Amino acid sequence: LANGRCVVAVDGPSGSGKSTVSRRLASALGAQYLDTGAMYRAVTWAVLRYGVDLGDVEGVAKVAGGLDLVIGTDPAAPHVRADDVDVDADIRGPEVTAAVSAVAAVPAVRQLLVARQRELIEAAGRIVVEGRDIGAVVAPDADLKVYLTASHDARAQRRSLETAASVDDTAADLLRRDTLDSTRAVDPLQQAPDAVVLDTTAMGIDDVVARLRAMVTA
Ligand code: DC
Repeated sequence: LANGRCVVAVDGPSGSGKSTVSRRLASALGAQYLDTGAMYRAVTWAVLRYGVDLGDVEGVAKVAGGLDLVIGTDPAAPHVRADDVDVDADIRGPEVTAAVSAVAAVPAVRQLLVARQRELIEAAGRIVVEGRDIGAVVAPDADLKVYLTASHDARAQRRSLETAASVDDTAADLLRRDTLDSTRAVDPLQQAPDAVVLDTTAMGIDDVVARLRAMVTA
C-alpha cells in the first residue's frame, strides 16, 4: 500500500476531524483526496439557487441530474465548481449547511453521487475519501476503513472555531444534523464492521494522521 493503489475510507460525524485528517493524510501519502460531503453540499447549493423546494424530491433529483459538478481531488486545493460557478465558499455557508441533510436523504441524489464517487476513486487509484457511508457503501473493498469520532462537546468546539458561530448554536445544529444523517432511510452514517475506530476527543490532529499513516504503510 506504500506506493501502489490504495483506497482509504474515512467516515464519521461532523466535527470529528475528518476533513483535516483526510486532507493531511492524502498529502502525506501522495494520494488524491475526495470530499464527498462537498458533493452533497454543491447539489444543495444548486437546489437553493434554482429555487427548488427542499420537499420536492423529484425536483431535487432533477437538479442533481442536470448539474455540471466538477470536484477537485488535489488535497492541497480541493476546489468545487457547480454549473461553472466557484462554490468553495458558498457550500460552507449557513444556508447550504441547514439544507444539506434534506438533500442527502433523497435516494436518487445518493445513487447519482455514489456512482460519481466510485468513478473518481477508480480513476485516482490512490485516494483518501471522506464521508458518511464510504466504508459501508461507496468503497466496501477499501484497503483501510477508519471511523473517526469525538465527544459531542469536542465536536461542537471544533466546528464553532471553524465557523465563528457560538458553541451553543453549533452544538444544537450538530445534534440536529447527526440525528437526520444517522436516522435517514438510505445509507445513514454508518460504522463499517471492519473499520478502525479512533476517538479523537483527546488526540491532536498530528497524532491522528501519524497513526493512520502507520496503518497504511504497515
Ligand atoms: O461532511 P459534511 O458536513 O460536509 O457533509 C455534508 C452533509 O452531507 C452531511 O449533513 C451529511 C451528508 N453526507 C452524506 O450523506 N454522505 C456522505 N458520504 C457525505 C456527506
